[in-house]
Amino acid sequence: EAFRVVANPNPATEAERAEKLSSLKFGVNFTDHMARMTWSMDEGWTDRRIEPYAPLQLDPASSVLHYASEIFEGLKAYKWADGTIRTFRPQANAERFQRSAWRMALPELPTEDFMASIRALVELEKDWVPTIPESSLYLRPFLIGTDVFLGLRQPMTVDYLLIASPSGPYFSGGVKPVSIWVEQEYHRAGPGGTGAAKCGGNYASSLRPQIEAGKRGYDQVLYLDAKTDTVLEELGGMNVFVVMKDGTVVTPVLTGNLLEGVTRASIIQLLEDDHLKVVERDITIKELRDGVASGDVAEVFACGTAAVVTPIGKMGSTDFEQQVGDGQPGPVTLKVRQTLTDIQYGRAEDTYGWMETI
Ligand code: COI
Repeated sequence: EAFRVVANPNPATEAERAEKLSSLKFGVNFTDHMARMTWSMDEGWTDRRIEPYAPLQLDPASSVLHYASEIFEGLKAYKWADGTIRTFRPQANAERFQRSAWRMALPELPTEDFMASIRALVELEKDWVPTIPESSLYLRPFLIGTDVFLGLRQPMTVDYLLIASPSGPYFSGGVKPVSIWVEQEYHRAGPGGTGAAKCGGNYASSLRPQIEAGKRGYDQVLYLDAKTDTVLEELGGMNVFVVMKDGTVVTPVLTGNLLEGVTRASIIQLLEDDHLKVVERDITIKELRDGVASGDVAEVFACGTAAVVTPIGKMGSTDFEQQVGDGQPGPVTLKVRQTLTDIQYGRAEDTYGWMETI
């Protein structure tokens, strides 16, 4: 079923749009429209529509505002030199959105609807896809519980929304290494918790540790598993990779506590196809600390849709502080970043069939 369009009567003028597209930060500006669908327990998914981007009207008793009945996704649309617009592995996001929905007792949005909403919105907003280097149209699909009820139960009514933000890099300043604080006080997720779900609450709870790490001079937080307090899991909004001196690349295994990153999975594939040995296994904080100190760990990087591939130049915690390698982005980090972005921006052939034409 098609998305009907309710056009924005006051879209940005061409000059306003050009101004917004000329200097891009991450997630600050938005396009003129958003896609939307409504779900109810009785009727299922209905009312596929594109409407003007505008503040939402929500009853103050809506379940999202009290019990955080919310999940989201993040993916990007790229404008290639030939003028076509492509998204990166959107089916993977659609499927993860369904898994997150299941965990959070929200309705699963069918993959066809997820894909159709992206196609409809990006097609309509194609002039908003930026072309300056490292930029893209960041797409943010999300579900909110709109049930007007203060009892704690599965929402009976839900809205799906898709907004689009012409964006530059998540971290400004080029491929600049970030520093990470290995968190030994707070946890991101625990066994049986919501760690693998992309729910807003996981990200809200990462902000206090992030602030405390910031006070110590660190950019990002890396969490350990809640059960043993020894095994690396992920950062507040990114997965992590460790490159050993012998060229082996190690990344935490998906235990159900980690966000199952689309970028993470893509990087594993790219590294393997570049003949590197990639091992998904437990990495302890001791192995990381000792390895960085001895040089057995050559590189550490973080990855995600928003952050792409971000080098980690320094690590620290309550009991250590150590530069990674020479503190600069390492060759494996830079190469996989280049290979991935070459595919995404159409500078290299997409032999994987990852790019979906709008
Ligand atoms: C993304 O990388 O797209 C995310 O959703 C993470 C968010 C913290 C920006």
